[in-house]
Amino acid sequence: MTDELDGVRAHYDAAGLTERLKTALIGLGPEDRRLTPQQLAALDQFHTRGLAATAELAKLAGITADMLVLDVGSGIGGPARFLNATHGCRVAGVDLSEPFVDAARYLTARTGQSDAVSFQTASALDLPFEEGRFGIVLLQHVAMNIADRARLYSEIRRVLKSGGRFATFDAVLNGGDPHYPVPWARNPATSFLLTAAATRQAIEAAGFHALAFENDTEAAKTWFAQLRASGPPPSPGLDVVMGRDFSELSTNLGRNLMEGRLGILTAVFETAPINT
Ligand SMILES: C[S@@+](CC[C@H](N)C(=O)[O-])C[C@H]1O[C@@H](n2cnc3c(N)ncnc32)[C@H](O)[C@@H]1O
Repeated sequence: MTDELDGVRAHYDAAGLTERLKTALIGLGPEDRRLTPQQLAALDQFHTRGLAATAELAKLAGITADMLVLDVGSGIGGPARFLNATHGCRVAGVDLSEPFVDAARYLTARTGQSDAVSFQTASALDLPFEEGRFGIVLLQHVAMNIADRARLYSEIRRVLKSGGRFATFDAVLNGGDPHYPVPWARNPATSFLLTAAATRQAIEAAGFHALAFENDTEAAKTWFAQLRASGPPPSPGLDVVMGRDFSELSTNLGRNLMEGRLGILTAVFETAPINT
């Protein structure tokens, strides 16, 4: 495993996470009471604009019940559970972080979705699936942790069926060096941002053409401004997952957007024949 992946794994090495979640969720009722994806949304949607962003991306990608979906960098599984609950599709998730995968399985058992939503520990650069397995691949706030974009996007292309779709929602470089720490990196060593144009170029070079390519920055800025005005988000939130300083990480992301250093990209691509 490379130094780069080790650094990213260390950033998301949430030791004891499942136990912390058990404690944090006591207020929502006993272990055998079924939870809904909405109840967990403040802590299990680990990206800008939370549940709303996942819902919009799924709509833009055209997810339907008959599709098999892969969520790459699935975190603690909120997006995967939401897609299954809302669209009825089966979802597989992979993530580099073992504690996250363990927590994702625990939360999925608590929402009663383990038959349709599964998780495994794996790298996005070496996906443990055969060619052409999935109808949709989702990648939300993960690419900025990955330096080898050519490999990332060609792995995603490999596991998609012909005519399959790739939906991505990520932070991109805009007009200057970001302030750190941010939610995906405490310093620049594990942050590999590209501009929106360079991201599109890398994705298309892997055998895709764009169906939608949208600048989501203004909506993200509005969301951060509302967050600042409304005070700390409801507990339990992402601080349970990432630690007490999560609000500092999140505030810096908002500041980077407000100052025009970073942007947010939403895009959906379809597979194109390879070698054209
Ligand atoms: C900011 S979180 C987003 C999680 C999830 N996509 C969501 O939106 O809730 C980034 C996730 O990407 C995962 N990740 C980063 N690099 C990865 C890689 N090379 N392979 C698999 N997962 C990776 C991290 O472990 C982390 O769970």
